[in-house]
Amino acid sequence: MTTSSSEQGVSLGMPELPAPAYPDDVRARLEADAREVIARYPDSRSALLPLLHLVQSEEGHVTRTGMRFCADVLGLTTAEVTAVATFYTMYRRRPSGDYQVGVCTNTLCAVMGGDAIFEELQEHLGVGNGETTEDGKVTLEHIECNAACDFAPVVMVNWEFFDNQTPSSAKHLVDDLRAGRTVEPTRGAPLCTFKETARILAGFPDERPGAVEASGGAGPASLVGLRLARGEAAPVRVVHPRTEEPEDQAPSDHIEEGEG
Ligand code: FES
Repeated sequence: MTTSSSEQGVSLGMPELPAPAYPDDVRARLEADAREVIARYPDSRSALLPLLHLVQSEEGHVTRTGMRFCADVLGLTTAEVTAVATFYTMYRRRPSGDYQVGVCTNTLCAVMGGDAIFEELQEHLGVGNGETTEDGKVTLEHIECNAACDFAPVVMVNWEFFDNQTPSSAKHLVDDLRAGRTVEPTRGAPLCTFKETARILAGFPDERPGAVEASGGAGPASLVGLRLARGEAAPVRVVHPRTEEPEDQAPSDHIEEGEG
């Protein structure tokens, strides 16, 4: 660790981001975690991304104090840390709810209903994009493609998948989250809070029984392509002829399977 909490303020001769210090016990705990993370990399600055997740796990978002901490332990300027923290959308810059509900509004999910889900959730929860409900439970945001297009439209809660959603199912989902009822992701590990998720993303083990094993599988729709790649025959494709052929048009202008 390059500086202590009492020394926060000057690094590498550059003006630094003003920020309150962590309490000594919190800083000592985070420093121990940071040492573990940094030891995984030949160049310590490579640990910045997991360390941002670590400080996010402490306060639920990346605060100025968190960025100062990362700069201190990695020997970076706060300008360098800020540049990274503000580039990636997985780092939240505002206080966050226990559950980050992300609605994919990328192209495929959008046309399959993602836009409608997002609009209805905004109205249902009374919050806009990136905002948190008054009870501090749910932060709503639209997210980009999470490579789950075969289950569109997809909603993610703390980065766990809820596939094939509808406006109605998504509203039930956020109601359950706010009421403290248990919800099960469609696949993958059981749900945990946003702070707990951030700590796992920092690289610390998910010690919940069965959680790691549950994370390993792909859904049936994703496995279709794998089976084809292994040589299984593609499903029969049926090409339907147009049913309303203009009487004065030759019937041979449509393409049948295998032609052309
Ligand atoms: S477009 Fe939504 S997961 Fe790909």
